[in-house]
Amino acid sequence: MTTKHFVLVILILVFGLASGCSRFPGKPSEADKWIASSEVLNFDQIYGQNCAGCHGAAGRFGAARSLNDALFLNLIAPGDLGQVIREGVPSTSMPAFAQKFGGQLTDAQIDLLVEQMKSRWGNPEGFNPVSLPPYRQRDAIGDSRRGSSVYNSYCSECHGTDGRGGKTAGSIVDPDFLKLVSDQSLRTTVIVGRRYVADVDCRATTNGQPMSAQEVSDIVAWLAAQRPTPLASDRPQTINPPSAEIKKTLAR
Ligand code: HEC
Ligand code: HEC
Repeated sequence: MTTKHFVLVILILVFGLASGCSRFPGKPSEADKWIASSEVLNFDQIYGQNCAGCHGAAGRFGAARSLNDALFLNLIAPGDLGQVIREGVPSTSMPAFAQKFGGQLTDAQIDLLVEQMKSRWGNPEGFNPVSLPPYRQRDAIGDSRRGSSVYNSYCSECHGTDGRGGKTAGSIVDPDFLKLVSDQSLRTTVIVGRRYVADVDCRATTNGQPMSAQEVSDIVAWLAAQRPTPLASDRPQTINPPSAEIKKTLAR
């Protein structure tokens, strides 16, 4: 063997061993590497750790609304969906997730949730987008007196007289229920129902006519008027006393 060959053999041995080292048992593979939670960009992981507890694994059968619902995802625009996740829903148990609002998720993670929820759950094969009243109440301000008669034509058949429960559906004017849900949540239910809860479209058509945007707002106003006390988010903010007042109180 020439010196040149000898050096070559040594080199092969050294490199061979070095590359073999990376396969020592116990050495973590790429996939096992620890990743800071703010770096995670995997839908299943982000959804599973932050949302599944309330909205159900895979967006179904949770206590809160099923998000795996094409009709709902057809109703809510990406901008509104992102806003609900970022800011949460004040005075309900829906938390704010954006770091700016005290949450743990980055903007990139929230964008990923919005985009993936829409593409995975928003458009299953064969789903025909339908036209619905707007997600948020815009111009059509509700009137609770009109809402009472709209209720009688569209809802009393299932929810009974005055909403106190009927043969096929429970009360929707129970104070404990109304204290926990926002007007938006009531509105969403009236427009798309609650998938996997009863799989009814509470918009239930009367004589084949779906409710108009105005009728949806009126019914929500009628329901909201039956809350024992307005939700904290609806009450006027308490104003801190001026600093002079505080100094006087302290001096006493
Ligand atoms: C602690 C329970 C809880 C967790 C965790 C939670 N939610 Fe919610 N979420 C709720 C509740 C309760 C509501 C209804 C609030 C209301 O009354 O408007 C809600 C409402 C929503 C709505 C609006 C539905 C509507 O009626 O228009 C969306 C969208 C939503 N959540 C998405 C998410 C996503 C995405 C996550 C995870 C990043 C998440 N939520 C985590 C409890 C939760
Ligand atoms: C065909 C029957 C039917 C009609 C019509 C109907 N609902 Fe419902 N609704 C149900 C059922 C069933 C549930 C599931 C829970 C229950 O048993 O109360 C439900 C649940 C609800 C809930 C509670 C959702 C929650 O978060 O738990 C609200 C609010 C509601 N309906 C409002 C309405 C309104 C307002 C109307 C009229 C526009 C209406 N529903 C029409 C059957 C109906």
